[in-house]
Amino acid sequence: MSDAKLQGVLSALSQTARQLDAVPSSQAGPDADCVKLDTNENPFPLPIAVMRTALTALKRHYLYPEDDNFSLREAAANAYGLSQDQVIAGNGSSELLGLLYRAFLAPGDSVAMMSPGFSFNRKLAMLQGARFLEIGWGKAYSLPIEQLLLGPPKDAKFILLANPNNPSGTFVPVADIDKLAAQSDRLIVLDEAYVDFAPDDALRLINRHSNLLILRTFSKSYAAAGIRVGFGFGHPELIGRLRNIQNLFNMNLIAHAVGISILSHRAAYAENHKHIKHERQRTMVALSELGFSVIPSYANFLLARVPSGQNGAWWQASLKRQKVLVAVFPDDGLENHIRVSIGTKAQMDKFLSAAGDISESLKTQRLPVTRR
Ligand SMILES: Cc1ncc(COP(=O)(O)O)c(C=O)c1O
Repeated sequence: MSDAKLQGVLSALSQTARQLDAVPSSQAGPDADCVKLDTNENPFPLPIAVMRTALTALKRHYLYPEDDNFSLREAAANAYGLSQDQVIAGNGSSELLGLLYRAFLAPGDSVAMMSPGFSFNRKLAMLQGARFLEIGWGKAYSLPIEQLLLGPPKDAKFILLANPNNPSGTFVPVADIDKLAAQSDRLIVLDEAYVDFAPDDALRLINRHSNLLILRTFSKSYAAAGIRVGFGFGHPELIGRLRNIQNLFNMNLIAHAVGISILSHRAAYAENHKHIKHERQRTMVALSELGFSVIPSYANFLLARVPSGQNGAWWQASLKRQKVLVAVFPDDGLENHIRVSIGTKAQMDKFLSAAGDISESLKTQRLPVTRR
């Protein structure tokens, strides 16, 4: 049925927005009984003290949250040894990514990202009408510094990389980032979403390079993905300008309270991080025994090349039938890979048992072999 008025309204969408279809209203959420290992959450409970703070904050539900995230930024500055004007707080770090794209990119501009990387960036660039330069990692996921300095990224508005990287889980030495920031005149956006699972971080570089902006999140290592707390650390002038274009009351008061409380209970997560690193190693070994080729990871997930014969999407569908959700990245040249988040021991047992059953059934059934 044609609705002329609606067609008129839709034709008023910007050229960029018109390229994107409406999201179907019937999109189903994940089955409640599935083991969810597809978005790198951290399934452990919040420390009790943090939980109590959230409940107390709820009593102030009728008030607007604090303007400009003042106390949260102050707490983060104290925790990370920065000044408050070096800190911006976001409704998750993805809000801050969006802010950067809006602040820096006009139609026709370009932005560079180390690729494969966090694919949400591709959409953010598209929304700005910007060219998205995907720069391939060097050998063994090393940082191609020369190429970033002298190749097409030299004209990009900013260069983005995640360390550890998603979806590979790989980690580049902080000295390489130091070198890149020192030699480049571009803004370097360093996304440290997974850094608490890695051996080092780049925070010490913040006062050394005015062209370095570090993003952090409490979604992964601090088990607060649903609360939405992220930070950006950088030069006060850049941070101040970003704060100026941020949405009014971009975070809610529970996120403020939880964020501040997590900052003062970071030590309580030591066991959690130890557990995840242990399960990461155990899962890597077990997957290798099943014929997967697993990239050593410094994050809370593993990227694994599936055994030859079937591709990543086939494995994803087979695991889903066994109530286990994993991620695949066919648009990133990773057709033969799955990415599995590291959760509790029980979750990883369930994943490994499902993967074992599927491997076993492949040996006994003659399933159609897909081309690699
Ligand atoms: C590399 C990277 N950056 C940022 C994010 C966004 O995290 P959040 O918006 O939950 O802080 C993710 C989430 O998966 C990620 O993998």
